[in-house]
Amino acid sequence: MPAGRAGAGRRGCTIWYIARPPAAPGGRQGQPHSLSPRCRPLTPHGLSDRAHARPPTERSLTRCPISELTLPIRTERLCLRQHRIDDVDALVSYYGDPVVARYIPWQPWSAEFAATMIDRRIPGTGITARDSRLALVAEYEGEVIGDVVLWPADETLSRGEMGWAFHPTVWGRGFATEAVRALIDTAFGPCGMHRVIAQVDGRNKASTRLCERVGMVREGFLRRDHWTKGEWTDTVVYGLLAEEWRG
Ligand SMILES: CC(C)(COP(=O)(O)OP(=O)(O)OC[C@H]1O[C@@H](n2cnc3c(N)ncnc32)[C@H](O)[C@@H]1OP(=O)(O)O)[C@@H](O)C(=O)NCCC(=O)NCCS
Repeated sequence: MPAGRAGAGRRGCTIWYIARPPAAPGGRQGQPHSLSPRCRPLTPHGLSDRAHARPPTERSLTRCPISELTLPIRTERLCLRQHRIDDVDALVSYYGDPVVARYIPWQPWSAEFAATMIDRRIPGTGITARDSRLALVAEYEGEVIGDVVLWPADETLSRGEMGWAFHPTVWGRGFATEAVRALIDTAFGPCGMHRVIAQVDGRNKASTRLCERVGMVREGFLRRDHWTKGEWTDTVVYGLLAEEWRG
């Protein structure tokens, strides 16, 4: 693994940088995470105590065994499973497309880059520490058509952030919506989070529609706050609370 491992990203998927994101002109690079291997116990409702009003404290948080999360996750049409090294071709088939890469942090992926990324994603089977993640590919009729990811937004592991990408040949059929709904269920259920967000490039209308379709609330519009691919871009922040999802 290269030195100078990823810093926390500010916009969807940025956590997957191999090296720290480049500093914008006059800006600072992201800082590396510290490890904090703790999580929360589940209540009888499948929701963590941390989903309730009291803020978490060091004392109240206990280790969350990965076994609480059963993979793969099955939805009506999809199987959401852990990444495998033989997913390289499937992921390159869409991450290698400039249309898919337009609003995400990377240039179109090469096979070599995909192999590196998949290698990093394979252990992403649950939320157990600040730098843990849940990274799942979405299979439809046995083919990988996209992927979703959830990662903790802070050391309490009670706030999460999500990212996603799907193959253009399946856009417009609700697959991403179905996968993201399952990811949110997992975040508020077994992962015990109380809030999830998505940070989306303001020009990425398919993604902002997706956020709204799953019931996320548009909480903020940050003007020209993110430096990507040679320009300052706007960020739309969407958020969702556990009680809103349950309600
Ligand atoms: C973001 C992205 C996943 C959205 O893809 P998508 O196909 O629009 O999303 P879905 O699969 O949920 O499909 C929803 C569309 O299908 C339609 N649809 C058809 N059947 C549907 C169903 N059963 N359920 C829900 N929607 C359905 C919806 O009306 C919607 O169309 P609309 O956006 O024109 O209103 C896709 O654009 C993408 O991969 N982009 C590149 C990567 C990227 O930018 N990621 C964002 C990082 S934050």
